[in-house]
Amino acid sequence: MPDFKPNDGRLYAPATERNREPILEILERVLPNPGTILEIASGTGEHASFFAPKLAPRRWWPSDISTPMLKSIAAWQKATNARYLLPPIQLDVREQSWSVETDQKRPIDAIVNINMIHISPWKACESLIAGAERVLPDQGVLFLYGPFKRNGEHTAPSNVTFDTWLKEQTPDWGVRDLEAVEGVAKVHHLILQEVIEMPANNLSLVFHKQP
Ligand SMILES: C[S@@+](CC[C@H](N)C(=O)[O-])C[C@H]1O[C@@H](n2cnc3c(N)ncnc32)[C@H](O)[C@@H]1O
Repeated sequence: MPDFKPNDGRLYAPATERNREPILEILERVLPNPGTILEIASGTGEHASFFAPKLAPRRWWPSDISTPMLKSIAAWQKATNARYLLPPIQLDVREQSWSVETDQKRPIDAIVNINMIHISPWKACESLIAGAERVLPDQGVLFLYGPFKRNGEHTAPSNVTFDTWLKEQTPDWGVRDLEAVEGVAKVHHLILQEVIEMPANNLSLVFHKQP
């Protein structure tokens, strides 16, 4: 049977179906409950649509920089019809101030960011972490997922190939050093609590905001 995809505006990223279950297992454990979870760089919106019903009563608030992605997220939201999945907002982490900072109705308890910091300039990672410091309350959670180098070394040959490919796309993209990310986070009072090895040589990083 052909893999039928409805023509309703939803975009699909093949990696999502492979990584969503292992990521969900971590999120269920580390995210505050109840709470509002801001997802940064939601991409197609498939993760949001999958996670929101399973993580209820937490509210899942998707976002992305890209207008085509926001359309896809909205299409996934419509198809999912999940009570706890909020409409997506446009958010570029590099903005000096994020619109969510002034939305007192929806304080953010945690930030989830999957597969963005290697597919964007290092500045985006720094801005993400600086924004997390501004937005999160004390003990708020920042969750990052993706490939990382450890002590300057790749953790698998597939990550070497991926890093080369990323830099060919744009020289300031690339697999990030876990220690560099941890260092920036520390400056912003986000302390690395857990490093969890995930399938396909990815890591989940869990940070807690300290006063
Ligand atoms: C590889 S996709 C990952 C999408 C999704 N999280 C996933 O795992 O399927 C990277 C996403 O980062 C978003 N992005 C890149 N730069 C960004 C920025 N400065 N602020 C917010 N999102 C950004 C892109 O639009 C894209 O949707």
